Amino acid sequence: MPVITCIEDLRRIHARRAPRMFYDYAESGSWTEQTFQENTTDFSKIRLRQRVAVDMTDRSTRSTMIGEDVAMPVALAPVGLTGMQHADGEILAARAAEGFGVPFTLSTMSICSIEDVAAHTTKPFWFQLYVMKDEDFVRRIIERAKAANCSALVVTLDLQILGQRHKDLKNGLSAPPKLTLPTLVNLATKWRWGLGMLGTKRRFFGNIVGHAKGVGDASSLSSWTAEQFDPQLDWGKIEKLRDMWGGKLILKGILDAEDARMALRVGADAIVVSNHGGRQLDGAMSAIRMLPSIIEAVGDKVEVHFDSGIRSGQDVLKALAQGARGTYIGRAFVYGLGAMGQAGVTRALEVIHRELDVTMALCGERDIHNLGRHNLILPQGYDDPTTVI
Ligand code: GLV
Repeated sequence: MPVITCIEDLRRIHARRAPRMFYDYAESGSWTEQTFQENTTDFSKIRLRQRVAVDMTDRSTRSTMIGEDVAMPVALAPVGLTGMQHADGEILAARAAEGFGVPFTLSTMSICSIEDVAAHTTKPFWFQLYVMKDEDFVRRIIERAKAANCSALVVTLDLQILGQRHKDLKNGLSAPPKLTLPTLVNLATKWRWGLGMLGTKRRFFGNIVGHAKGVGDASSLSSWTAEQFDPQLDWGKIEKLRDMWGGKLILKGILDAEDARMALRVGADAIVVSNHGGRQLDGAMSAIRMLPSIIEAVGDKVEVHFDSGIRSGQDVLKALAQGARGTYIGRAFVYGLGAMGQAGVTRALEVIHRELDVTMALCGERDIHNLGRHNLILPQGYDDPTTVI
């Protein structure tokens, strides 16, 4: 087994071990992938301020997200089809998160169902909702999340219609994969993945197959989104969902200060600044460039979380130092899962934690709550969301 020292190591193993169509699904942005790429390159434009001769003993990355204790403010983001990257993927990732002490968010478009993840974990997890046209389905899935003791509902607002990802169309992405000749040729080289899949019955969209009606192709993410997702979702409907749920509400996919103010008005407990990992509106600004203007607009009134582009503990620190109270990793944990199952997700969390902790020390900080703009050196114009730099 190679020595894993960074998230990139896990990505390379994931690329080798998972079927091409699922690795490509994770590693795609929409259209030209400009936003997908800038989500990470804009992080590298931020520099860190080195401080010395500061006592660095007894450092702590412990914090809270929506009132829940976390070993570090890094949650696992909802990722569709996680159970196709590795057999039983959502259960394994949820267990790794639980072991590490960070929140796990289960996607509506998961393979393992809400009930299945609840049965295989001991701590409450968060449930991410895609709002469907079928109101009865929405009502029932919210009830199911309550019954499973989920401690937050994460409503995604930036994917009522799917941004086009060329690779998914070319690969014929589906769960389970359709056994076309090119797919069979590719699967023939993925024996580890295949053995895992043969040993599980979790190979379909577990939250929806058997629970939703009227979909042409039940294995296709693009069919689900096109036929089922509610294109009329608006703030009024979000208020109704809030009342139906009645618990902690996180609104994900906010990239604009105006929308952040609306989220505040409907009573969100937290918002997630995100462009869906560059998978939706290509050409949108990177999430990290939009963070300062959103913090300025609502940062003192609602908990602001950050998602999109984090591949290291240093990235986590850069988001926290700009005022985010929590962050999410999507691809970074999926690489670990696709590479080595539960152990790989744990490894991804360990890598990020160590990078965060050592970077804090070298910045002269001992407590994660003390991070701030004083730790960063930003390019001119970085804060201005109307300027491309
Ligand atoms: C969401 O399910 C996505 O594919 O980005």
